[in-house]
Amino acid sequence: MEEIVSLCKRRGFVFQSSEIYGGINGFWDFGPLGVELRNNVKRFWWQTMVDLRDDVVGVDTSIIAHPQTWEASGHLSSFSDPMVDCKECKKRFRADQLPEGTTDKCPECGGELTEPRAFNLMFKTFVGAKEDSSSEAYLRPETCQSIFTQFKNVVTTSRQKVPFGIAQIGKSFRNEITPRNFIFRSREFEQMEMEFFIKPEKAIQNEWYEYWHKERLNWYKRLGIRSEHLHMRDHEEDELAHYASACVDVEYDFPFGRSELEGIANRGNYDLSQHIEHSKKDLSYFNQADNEKFVPAVIETSAGCDRTLLAVICDAYQKDEVGGEERIVMRFAPHIAPVKIGILPLSKKLAEPAKKLENDLRKRFKTDYDDAGSIGKRYRRQDEIGTPLCLTYDFDSETDNQVTIRHRDTTKQERVAIDQVKNYIQDVLDASQDS
Ligand code: GAP
Repeated sequence: MEEIVSLCKRRGFVFQSSEIYGGINGFWDFGPLGVELRNNVKRFWWQTMVDLRDDVVGVDTSIIAHPQTWEASGHLSSFSDPMVDCKECKKRFRADQLPEGTTDKCPECGGELTEPRAFNLMFKTFVGAKEDSSSEAYLRPETCQSIFTQFKNVVTTSRQKVPFGIAQIGKSFRNEITPRNFIFRSREFEQMEMEFFIKPEKAIQNEWYEYWHKERLNWYKRLGIRSEHLHMRDHEEDELAHYASACVDVEYDFPFGRSELEGIANRGNYDLSQHIEHSKKDLSYFNQADNEKFVPAVIETSAGCDRTLLAVICDAYQKDEVGGEERIVMRFAPHIAPVKIGILPLSKKLAEPAKKLENDLRKRFKTDYDDAGSIGKRYRRQDEIGTPLCLTYDFDSETDNQVTIRHRDTTKQERVAIDQVKNYIQDVLDASQDS
């Protein structure tokens, strides 16, 4: 994990937030390569979950919602973790995450711990000029609640019929007691959630629940994560969140252990029913074909963008040997790699035609131009940021209108006609996405 964190900083994937002020625990910034990789993960999720389906539509709702939302959802009363404080060093821990055998002694200094207390994880703020209880509001701890509160508006405006889904990607905030494992558990993070509304009958619920397990697991594989590192784990009864009747987690074998990437839950009609009760608005669904009215049940797929990003980075990180030298290579699936093609003129004298070619390619693909240092060194740098293809423009290119394309994983090289380069790159990206 240390090596991965160090590479993330060295190459501009992830920085500590406000590093110059000593950092702020549980918050992270994404650098020039991190933002590209992250955008590619989100774009691929949106394409799979919304663009390529005719039964899912998207929304983008506000981070701060009416505070009654959180009363109705149960977050005000139940969204808490048990917390203990050390009476000596004043450090705070999650009671359920203390190392075994340290229930009453501080794991850091051996001091006495307080009794566990419930600690609500929602960040509180004030809306408007007055700072009193009438202006209290919360940063959303999950993106899905506004999907439920906007259910009726989406039904009437989108012409979707049950079964159908509403998807959203956006920031969520949780005042985690112990943020840890790099970007795995942070206080500000992004979720990619989809709520799929179905008829409330049990058999139908089970069918869609199973369907979404398969779809979601498959998505992680197509993202380039090796299937032997992915697992599905059913929640035990006592683990289930207050709203769920069943839940399965997609887990990944991180260097720090097997941990959750996504939860797929059968939320029944808990949320819509709660919002009906609290808002006194009719959020039921009317099926004209069968002349029936019901409150739909929901199968939720709730993924963390940051955790997915970390899994993608961990899975891509490899060391091998090229020409007798060790190299670090990020084997990202080409379609999500932050840079698709490195443009490396063999000599600075070839800068003009090489840049001309780059300007043409960058309209379609993320490129990176590099003419500094030996070609071997430049290849190593592109390998370390996971660029799947490198293009070398040499003196022959001037006359034969061909360039050399080198593949990151095999280091194999091929001569390709300049007017075929776009198709060549596109084929490599498409093949990786469809595999
Ligand atoms: N709407 C359901 C929901 O929010 P959750 O299991 O609490 O369910 C879903 O969260 C996903 O959000 C998790 O699987 C994880 O990927 C991500 N997530 C939750 N808390 C997180 C945190 N503190 N830091 C990073 N990601 C987090």
